[in-house]
Amino acid sequence: MTQLLGVALRGTGSCLPARVVPNHEFTDALNLDTSDEWIRTRTGIRERRFAGLGETSATLGTAASRNAIDSAGLTADDIDLIVCATVTPDLMCPSTANLIQAGLGCRHIPAFDISAACSGFLYALSVASQFVRTGAAKHTLVVGAEVLTRTTDFTDRNSCILFGDGAGAVVLSGTPVLNAGIRMIRLYSDGTRQELIQVPSKVTPNPPPGPPQLQRLDYLRLSGREVFRFAVTRMVELIEQAEIDCRELGLSGIDVLIPHQVNQRIIDAALESSEFPSEKVMVNLDKYGNTSAASVPIALDEALRTGRCKPGDTVLLVAFGGGLTWSSALIAL
Ligand SMILES: CC(C)(COP(=O)(O)OP(=O)(O)OC[C@H]1O[C@@H](n2cnc3c(N)ncnc32)[C@H](O)[C@@H]1OP(=O)(O)O)[C@@H](O)C(=O)NCCC(=O)NCCS
Repeated sequence: MTQLLGVALRGTGSCLPARVVPNHEFTDALNLDTSDEWIRTRTGIRERRFAGLGETSATLGTAASRNAIDSAGLTADDIDLIVCATVTPDLMCPSTANLIQAGLGCRHIPAFDISAACSGFLYALSVASQFVRTGAAKHTLVVGAEVLTRTTDFTDRNSCILFGDGAGAVVLSGTPVLNAGIRMIRLYSDGTRQELIQVPSKVTPNPPPGPPQLQRLDYLRLSGREVFRFAVTRMVELIEQAEIDCRELGLSGIDVLIPHQVNQRIIDAALESSEFPSEKVMVNLDKYGNTSAASVPIALDEALRTGRCKPGDTVLLVAFGGGLTWSSALIAL
């Protein structure tokens, strides 16, 4: 009989490219009809990081993973599984997780990618945690890694100002305490609204409809206003559901909320509707913009490193994005 285990968050790490791109570069260097003031007041973003030459989801993901493995007090040899969430893989095949496995020098362990856009990290966390809970893996590496600026149309002011590159990673480990660590993960999707965020590729059958400047196959396409409304509605639902989950699981409440770092106005609107206290929310989108699947693990790593959350806290992670997908995880640190 399989012995079910608790799933502890044992280590975290992140990696951001060195190149900082402040808002004024969109006007000064790219001649875009926008302004630092518009971007700051409509999104909360002040700057973001752009991957440099040779930096990819795999290289950033490998560096973030090394930091997570170090912070867990383990070595690459201890890892039994790698799950990487990305919508900007280095290659269609092999997976970014395979490249990370090679980069870290891990044993011949299973490694694969998950595609769920900005919810990807929580989807990956769910899959990896089930390997740990059943005893199929002792230590797993979960990575969110993106270079979304490589799919961005820098003539489209509606979308190009939003995104940044980076990677975050966590190590999950089995613990005999069933009520430790990951307490609840909720995952959702609605493919009927797939057109709201898309990144076509060479295998996309027909060029998707859209304005002429977005006809290039590999450009990210976004209906910002509709996504804004979807994100607020789902974030409110996820927070309210997590508060119910806390009561049912006997947890005293949410100490820190780490939302997908997408737009300060989305976060503010959701906090107001759900009456969730803003002082309990971790935000770093002003520095990094929206890094898609990497945003939640980067913010989680920063929250832990800066003492924003500490052992004993209950943390709620919340994410939403293309698919459409939305998701949450309640973790007792
Ligand atoms: C994209 C987003 C920042 C736009 O903000 P908004 O307040 O909804 O703005 P709107 O789309 O209503 O546009 C308002 C006006 O600003 C203009 N505008 C858009 N981007 C601009 C920019 N960078 N600079 C200046 N003006 C801009 C629009 O053209 C529009 O002008 P119009 O009224 O003359 O048509 C916001 O909707 C958002 O963050 N959406 C979600 C982002 C997302 O999808 N992320 C990925 C998935 S998680």
